[in-house]
Amino acid sequence: MKARILFVCLGNICRSPMAEAVMRHQVEQAGLNDRIEIDSAGTGDWHLGHPPHEGTRKLLDEHQISYQGMKARLVAESDFETFDYIVCMDTKNLRDVRELLKNAGTLESRAKVFTFMELLPDKGIADVPDPYYDGNFPFVYELVNSGCRELLKRVQADLKLA
Ligand code: 4NP
Repeated sequence: MKARILFVCLGNICRSPMAEAVMRHQVEQAGLNDRIEIDSAGTGDWHLGHPPHEGTRKLLDEHQISYQGMKARLVAESDFETFDYIVCMDTKNLRDVRELLKNAGTLESRAKVFTFMELLPDKGIADVPDPYYDGNFPFVYELVNSGCRELLKRVQADLKLA
């Protein structure tokens, strides 16, 4: 069995692509490429087809993490059937995804839908702050790196690999 993870943010150029790239890197390091698939999408359509934001690319370059071929896309109704985990970078993204689910008539989504910060309850913050507005990409990287480690543990347990 495979686990499929979709990270969702607003523009799909800053936070969710960072999470996608970091998660893929961690999955590769764990030798689980063939068991876990990762993607990302946005709820807004301003940057469709664009590569990750230069702030995200800079952080990924510094950590030698590939973002090759990644391009912004919109969340689609079919994602609710494809993915097992839909991880929303903030609570607004979660609300928007739930609304889409409702409109799609697929309230019985196969996916577990939750926020990224639920993976890091000790941090005491609800949202991964949007660096598109505040420019704090290094802080987002820290959160993403820690949260992806927690998500990997959770997925490994669900796949009965750990
Ligand atoms: P993201 O950040 O949701 O982390 O990709 C944003 C990117 C673009 C915009 C907003 C947030 N925008 O308004 O274009």
